[in-house]
Amino acid sequence: MWSSHVKTGAELTISSIPATALAKEFGTPAFIMDEADFRERASAWNTALAYAFGSNTGTVYYAAKAFICVEVARWIKDIGIGIDVCTGGELAVALKGGIDPAKIEVHGNNKSLAEIEKAVSVGVGTIVIDSLYEIERVAAAATKHGVVQKVLLRLTPGIEAHTHESIATAHEDVKFGFSIASGAAWSAIAQVRTHASLELRGFHAHIGSQIFENDSFEISAQRLIELLAKYRDEYSTELPELDLGGGYGIAYLPGENSLDPASTMKDLAKVVTAQCAAHKLAIPRISIEPGRAIVGPTMFTLYEVGTVKDVTLENGAIRRYVSVDGGMSDNLRPALYDAQYFAALANRTSSAPKVSSRIVGKHCETGDIVIREIDLENDIVPGDLLATPATGAYGRSMATNYNHVPRPPVVAVKDGKARVILRRETEADLLGLDI
Ligand code: LLP
Repeated sequence: MWSSHVKTGAELTISSIPATALAKEFGTPAFIMDEADFRERASAWNTALAYAFGSNTGTVYYAAKAFICVEVARWIKDIGIGIDVCTGGELAVALKGGIDPAKIEVHGNNKSLAEIEKAVSVGVGTIVIDSLYEIERVAAAATKHGVVQKVLLRLTPGIEAHTHESIATAHEDVKFGFSIASGAAWSAIAQVRTHASLELRGFHAHIGSQIFENDSFEISAQRLIELLAKYRDEYSTELPELDLGGGYGIAYLPGENSLDPASTMKDLAKVVTAQCAAHKLAIPRISIEPGRAIVGPTMFTLYEVGTVKDVTLENGAIRRYVSVDGGMSDNLRPALYDAQYFAALANRTSSAPKVSSRIVGKHCETGDIVIREIDLENDIVPGDLLATPATGAYGRSMATNYNHVPRPPVVAVKDGKARVILRRETEADLLGLDI
């Protein structure tokens, strides 16, 4: 839940820097990021993939949508893994961070012509094709640039992943990819093969996000491998790659555990090896795209309490509303997915009794809730700091300017030093858009 260099119990510290010092220097709300933890998690997935798949190891593509900025792109480059981008904006950040285009994989169910043109012209390693229109568009761009573009086809293996409906992506009724069951995937394969400017490398599937059941990943792999076998039977040649997507679950609350990279990859490798053997296929190069599992636990959000208000409910019970200086603009996940978070008093210790509380933001909306129900010390007062762990994935990256609230900064901490890697938005930034 907390990143590895955070200590709680007394005043919260990260890499020995107290929360009060961070709040004083960088203001609140702020995302505080543990750089060493990010590097360790990215390396752990990279090592786990390599260990499990040996000579059949593909690439760990960090899913930029979880969180990206230019400095983090530089870390990715430095760590040596690849990156998955799904818009021109994410591609621009990856390139600015110096990531080798060959290590960039481009996603998106509706890539614009300009995005396709940019991706092909800079020489991205792989484009993951999502529709029949896109086959023609990528083929045309590759022809124009005189290159043969490596592509994967995004497939929906028909899996009801056990996660929130909005973040499950591989059942039949979704906008993503080509369905295997309906035959759409088979038609797309034939269409790609008509283009000399496209090289079909294999298939991709991403079944959803915040998933803990290994069997969901395994069934997906199994269905893609069945299709690889069908392809070999039809075309007398084998496709060399499978990208099995991301979605590995992490801990948000005390008592929860994140998926372990080593055992998750080991289990996946067992299934892939057995399935390939059953179909007499060579094992393809296996890639994955973890986003949340790398960045999620590396950040916490530091808020300052502004007001505390006790409200008497119809049944006579008291609900304590603790308002912080951010809210749904920096963490949309509770409103969108009923996501649950934990918070801890960060600037001091308190042995006061706990009282059932609701942590809310500063937005003009009742649904602006950070934590619906949590027991907090009953002596919390304005000026206290609260820290919410595991906000690294889809926190800052889905932040908005609702109510014209400037988006918070990301402060990276490493070896006892803190620095801003993404600055706080200002009112001038916001007004700069007005004509
Ligand atoms: N690959 C593809 C093709 C994806 O669509 C995604 C996430 C990932 C990889 C990374 O998934 P991860 O490892 O981070 O779970 N905003 C939602 C999550 C949406 C995920 C969309 N795609 C949330 O806050 O839970």
